[in-house]
Amino acid sequence: MRKIVALSVAVLLVTWLLIVGLDAAHVMPVEASTQAVSVDWMWKLMEIVMSFLTALILVPMFYSLVVFRRRKGETGEGVHVDGNTKLELIWTAIPLVAVVVFAILGGGNLADVLRQDPNAMVVKVTGHQWSWKFEYPADPETGLTVVSDELHLPVGQQVLLLMTSSDVIHSFWVPEFRLKQDLVPGRFTKLTITPSEVGNYAVRCAELCGTSHAYMENPVIVSTRDDYSAWLSLKIQEAKVAATDPVGFGEILVKQNGCVACHSITGAAGIGPTWLNLFGATVKLSDGTTVTADQAYLTESIKEPQAKIVASFTTQMPTYGFTDDQIAALVAYIETLK
Ligand code: CUA
Repeated sequence: MRKIVALSVAVLLVTWLLIVGLDAAHVMPVEASTQAVSVDWMWKLMEIVMSFLTALILVPMFYSLVVFRRRKGETGEGVHVDGNTKLELIWTAIPLVAVVVFAILGGGNLADVLRQDPNAMVVKVTGHQWSWKFEYPADPETGLTVVSDELHLPVGQQVLLLMTSSDVIHSFWVPEFRLKQDLVPGRFTKLTITPSEVGNYAVRCAELCGTSHAYMENPVIVSTRDDYSAWLSLKIQEAKVAATDPVGFGEILVKQNGCVACHSITGAAGIGPTWLNLFGATVKLSDGTTVTADQAYLTESIKEPQAKIVASFTTQMPTYGFTDDQIAALVAYIETLK
């Protein structure tokens, strides 16, 4: 009896140590959505049960290794044990109950996480190799839609992500929101998120989708409702300008993306070729050939900066992932620089 008590105390002690140790390891990032609360509650419960089960196996195992080891001079066989009905019933019943209880809790948890608010804001998400595009609800006044490669969300408002892929399967994953959902070409999948913490996060792709899978990461910005509205109206303003004045839109894009840090508009030398008098000029390339800087060449150079390198320059320019409209605006702006 004393041994049983000692073993039980040891099991509880090891359970406690495992739980404290796991907590100290901080395996989970910030809890930034209401759905995360349900997920974390379930996780915590699993952590406690798993710690107990681990202790229940490890403690008697090490105890037996020490107490029942073969002593010096012992050569006989061990005791033959032929089943133990009571023990077998216990170790069948306990896991059965545990599995059923977890199934019921898990079902309730899933229902919590999937619960959809009828007033949810719908954002369309498209995954492509290797970036994300987010399309916001159309502006009621102008009918213009905002497309961005950043996911901006107002805090406390449920968002329904309607997701699809334009090529292979990707997976939407923001660890702070605790939710994950595949994006499948030719089909829409859904994910509901209610951000609860203002902050900057990142959406990562959680499905191996090609060579740059590891870099398929875009910003997720959760802000106050006011900040979100301000951002959205700025974007709608930009969309308005884009629809009526491509050159003006191009100028905005140039400012936003800091293009002039490398490409001067004054003819001054820089890391990249100057844009002054570029449109229509003959450009010498690093492979010795020449090309006319027309719309097609400029479009290609923005989309694929590595495709044609201008003589005496190196290829440092990243792909910015501009939309076709944005590229047309940039080219239209460059054309005006005479
Ligand atoms: Cu997309 Cu991995």
